[in-house]
Amino acid sequence: MDRRKFIASTGAAAAGTFLANPVTGMAAVNPQRRRKKRVALVGTGVRGVGMYGSGLMRTYSDYVDMVGLCDTNPGRLQVGSRIVDAGCPTFTDLEEMIRKQKPETLIVTTEDRTHHDVIIKGMEMGCDIITEKPLTIDEVKAQAIIDAERKYGKRVIVTFNYRYPPYRARMKELLMEGLIGDVTSVDFHWQIHHRHLQQYMMRWHGESNRGGTLWVHKSTHHFDMVNWFLNSEPVQVQAFGALERFGSKGPFRGKNCRNCAYTSECPYYWNINENERLKTLYADNEHYDGYIRDNCVFRHQIDIYDKHSAIVKYANGAFLNYSLTADTDYDGYWITFNGTKGRLESRVLGYPRKEYAELVFTPVSIYNDKPAEVIKVAFDRGGHWGGDPIMLDKLFKDPDTPDPLGQQAGVRDGVMSILIGVAARKSIKEGRVINIASLTDLEPQVVKPAFT
Ligand SMILES: NC(=O)c1ccc[n+]([C@@H]2O[C@H](COP(=O)([O-])OP(=O)(O)OC[C@H]3O[C@@H](n4cnc5c(N)ncnc54)[C@H](O)[C@@H]3O)[C@@H](O)[C@H]2O)c1
Repeated sequence: MDRRKFIASTGAAAAGTFLANPVTGMAAVNPQRRRKKRVALVGTGVRGVGMYGSGLMRTYSDYVDMVGLCDTNPGRLQVGSRIVDAGCPTFTDLEEMIRKQKPETLIVTTEDRTHHDVIIKGMEMGCDIITEKPLTIDEVKAQAIIDAERKYGKRVIVTFNYRYPPYRARMKELLMEGLIGDVTSVDFHWQIHHRHLQQYMMRWHGESNRGGTLWVHKSTHHFDMVNWFLNSEPVQVQAFGALERFGSKGPFRGKNCRNCAYTSECPYYWNINENERLKTLYADNEHYDGYIRDNCVFRHQIDIYDKHSAIVKYANGAFLNYSLTADTDYDGYWITFNGTKGRLESRVLGYPRKEYAELVFTPVSIYNDKPAEVIKVAFDRGGHWGGDPIMLDKLFKDPDTPDPLGQQAGVRDGVMSILIGVAARKSIKEGRVINIASLTDLEPQVVKPAFT
């Protein structure tokens, strides 16, 4: 795209284009003409019952029948079932649910370390899969999913909702249109607010064998964004990481927040009993499985990192300079694409929340000495900068609409994004550069294969 065309397309007349999403812009399918899809949900935690449970019942009940709910914790399953209010049977056994209810699609919202078991069992028993990120937490489980997909030929979609906010779709379009030429490097720095991070440290996310560390649990989103924006796959990773404030680094520790002697001096004190949904889902049911939702953020079991830096080399020659700084005073990030014809950057703050994102395009001065252009792109309503409802429409309401930006993601995307985090963990432990090709049998490609 040349500069004149860019300015014309970013002017007031084009504002509507920025606000519209390429997915939701399509005509909706008449629900009467399509049979409802039989779906079942595995994992009735807060994400499952909210986004995919009550969320589907509220907005997509013309398109889907929720035919079963499953969770290994019988108490949480019953509370979850009341929240979802689908009137469907509940199961603590996955195989029994699939055998009896015959869902066409399983929605997987379990703890990260169990995703592969549910995904593989679901495919083996004939289901397509819609799974939350991360696809899984290590390379061995990733290979098992790759093998199962090849064996059973089912469709697996990984819900990378971070690809869907309208302003990110606009960034992707601008990159695809060649606004900044070939991208040679990306600078990407993400911050997690104290309160947000604390929710990770309190739960299984703080233990590497359960959430794969934030390199996988959280950064899978970020690495997927970069893979998608660059339309290429990672080949090498070098990383550093440290745990500086949590786990054994903390000054004191208690059993959990509710039973702690240090509530007045602990900056991370949080009372789960003040949140009715979390209390009834988790605290009231911890006697079944010992899942403590308000664990001490200074417990010795925490073995993940709170400071992360990595350099990633891509098959197309681009470099990514990435950091994830946990425990800061804002949620947000800064991303910059440096290209042969210019630079495109965006800084987004979660708290305090703005109504729009600003994209800044700076032409390379050797070609053009005009000042930077600022493009404002509104957030849509809904979770994750307006991305969640757009993704859900594509999944459940308009699955056959075209996907010109390649926003829908499959197993290969899920694997390529977690492998950067897996390689980062390995790189930190072994103090060397890790080749992505050494982790699974997927060979990184210069041009990312499209998910169809
Ligand atoms: N895309 C996003 O922005 C986003 C946001 C939040 C959570 N998530 C993902 O959603 C998933 C769920 O998150 P959450 O916060 O609700 O977690 P959670 O721990 O609160 O809930 C997980 C539920 O799964 C159940 N479970 C665990 N193993 C199981 C198994 N083998 N079979 C059946 N049930 C099982 C647990 O009992 C629990 O009820 C995670 O994978 C997380 O990464 C994604």
